[in-house]
Amino acid sequence: MKYVVISGVSRGLGRELAIQFHRNHYAVIAYARDEKALNDLKEELLSKNACPVFLFKVDAMVKSEVQQFAAEVKKICTSPDVIVNNVAQYTENAISEENFDTLEEQMKINFYSAWWLTHPFLNELKQRKQGHIFNICSVVSVKPRYNAAAYSISKGALKFFNDVLKEEMNLYNVKVTAVLPGSINTSSWDGVDAPKAAFVQPADIAALMLHILKNPSPANIDEIVINPQLKGY
Ligand SMILES: NC(=O)c1ccc[n+]([C@@H]2O[C@H](COP(=O)([O-])OP(=O)(O)OC[C@H]3O[C@@H](n4cnc5c(N)ncnc54)[C@H](OP(=O)(O)O)[C@@H]3O)[C@@H](O)[C@H]2O)c1
Repeated sequence: MKYVVISGVSRGLGRELAIQFHRNHYAVIAYARDEKALNDLKEELLSKNACPVFLFKVDAMVKSEVQQFAAEVKKICTSPDVIVNNVAQYTENAISEENFDTLEEQMKINFYSAWWLTHPFLNELKQRKQGHIFNICSVVSVKPRYNAAAYSISKGALKFFNDVLKEEMNLYNVKVTAVLPGSINTSSWDGVDAPKAAFVQPADIAALMLHILKNPSPANIDEIVINPQLKGY
């Protein structure tokens, strides 16, 4: 049995990743905060096939909660085959208008949580000489948006984490891939008047990641950049 660990699965891309990995016979171990949405997802997954599903209520902003989640993962599978650091929140403000507390929150949710979740498994992955870590970054990781300053800074940090981790883990046959999407048609756009049908669709990103995992090549796919064709998004 293969195990995938995903952060932020109650909606959006994370939810789609849970559905597609489960459909491809991965046991899913994942977290978010919305318990009802987690229960609904679990029910939906188990109605399709019997692969195990373990969902936890965790706040990515709280180090002890993410570390406790990682400890639960260890109890279930020692070390997962795939880790997807997907959780994030998007905020908008320019640096001159930004409050330091928001920067701290964005760093915790969008970057530190990835460290807290990934780090406990690195030694096992190195010993096993297999595994794949995906970090869901953003196009703003490399092309920052001045009016989403804290988000851009935290996503830039996540991309650097990805790249430094890749340099180390590739020495041990463990793969590390950064995913850099432009606008994705997810719940994070709820209430915004935008051409969501023309955005990147979550199902396409999930399918691409599964395709990469099925490829036995010793090559590491360093990053995937995926943008809507529509200009301005
Ligand atoms: N949507 C876009 O246009 C876009 C573009 C580029 C990159 N991305 C990246 O793609 C990834 C997925 O984005 P998305 O659009 O799918 O986001 P989304 O629809 O807003 O979903 C975010 C997920 O993360 C969870 N989450 C948020 N804050 C949390 C916290 N403090 N603790 C635990 N869980 C938390 C949410 O669940 P709960 O609220 O239940 O906790 C939800 O399941 C993110 O890394 C995002 O930065 C998105």
